Amino acid sequence: MLAEQFGRGWRERFREFDETPAAAASIGQVHRAVWRDGREVAVKVQYPGAEEALRSDLRQLSRMSRLMQPLVPGLEIKPLITELRERMEEELDYRDEAANQRAFATAYEGDDKIKVPRVVASAPRAMVTEWVTGTRLSDVIRSGARAEREAAAALLAEFHYSAPARVGLLHADPHPGNFQLLADGRLMVIDYGAVARLPEGLPRPLSEMVRLAMEDKPADLLELLRDHGFVRSGAALPAEEALNYLAPFAEPLRTETFHFDRHWLQGQAERIGDLRRPEFRTGRELNLPPEYLLIHRVTMGTLGVLCQLDADVPLRGIVRHWQPWIFDSEDADQHA
Ligand SMILES: Nc1ncnc2c1ncn2[C@@H]1O[C@H](COP(=O)(O)OP(=O)(O)O)[C@@H](O)[C@H]1O
Ligand SMILES: [Mg+2]
Repeated sequence: MLAEQFGRGWRERFREFDETPAAAASIGQVHRAVWRDGREVAVKVQYPGAEEALRSDLRQLSRMSRLMQPLVPGLEIKPLITELRERMEEELDYRDEAANQRAFATAYEGDDKIKVPRVVASAPRAMVTEWVTGTRLSDVIRSGARAEREAAAALLAEFHYSAPARVGLLHADPHPGNFQLLADGRLMVIDYGAVARLPEGLPRPLSEMVRLAMEDKPADLLELLRDHGFVRSGAALPAEEALNYLAPFAEPLRTETFHFDRHWLQGQAERIGDLRRPEFRTGRELNLPPEYLLIHRVTMGTLGVLCQLDADVPLRGIVRHWQPWIFDSEDADQHA
């Protein structure tokens, strides 16, 4: 694969190359090597045939979607599959991933919180990045001291909320394997195959939703949800129900720090997932517009990792810094 991607003389690009993979990637593997200029590098190589296997899975999924649609009347499946197909094409071509990673590396160059390994070389099915190593987030979750878990959680939140504003992109794969806590206190982030493109930053309607939920304004909230396609057409949804559904997700922003743990996450999952609860019915009246699919998934995934870290997180200050408009009217109240 490397010969195909970098030419028959590919070995000359490296001073050393460890033939035993250092890590598994989802559709390939990662080797540790030394680039010809002496830099330590990670070489991610796609498995031959990965592309065809993924395409065939997706064809299967498209066929099944017709059968699934009647089961989830609130959700439009076809646009979701189209979105999935487009994102998958990007994940298959490591040149897209490399371009994303370069954008992140440039935006966070010299940052004291976030480290993004530089891209050294890229091809459609192989890419070379600077080797960076620290403590994996999965180890921090399993056995990190409290201070370490809190540091990692705050950094992760900072990364999630700052990237749309700083890069115009949102890293869309908040899997613990994609983050490492470095000895110098920074959070290293890898794996830019999936990103949401947000040239204008995080969409305003989302922060508006948070603001209206925090300010307890059910009627305005429902209107906003309807205007932006978050309510199934024809659904009779009482404004109070919409507020009750969404407000608990804004709860972590009401205090300076909030303790995220599995218990809180389970409570939220039960609240909206339990068939006997009114929230379940509310959920069926709501729709997820395809352009929000990735953001939703990433936000939920990041929340999940924060909860796994079982940490006090100063989320309010972080969100306030990157989306001050959510708190605008509070400021106005204070100044009045
Ligand atoms: N620049 C790097 N430095 C050190 N390790 C890396 C680097 N890039 C990848 N790895 C290792 O390879 C694994 C898989 O890489 P990743 O880009 O996350 O692939 P995938 O997209 O398949 O998840 C990572 O979890 C990490 O252990
Ligand atoms: Mg990964």
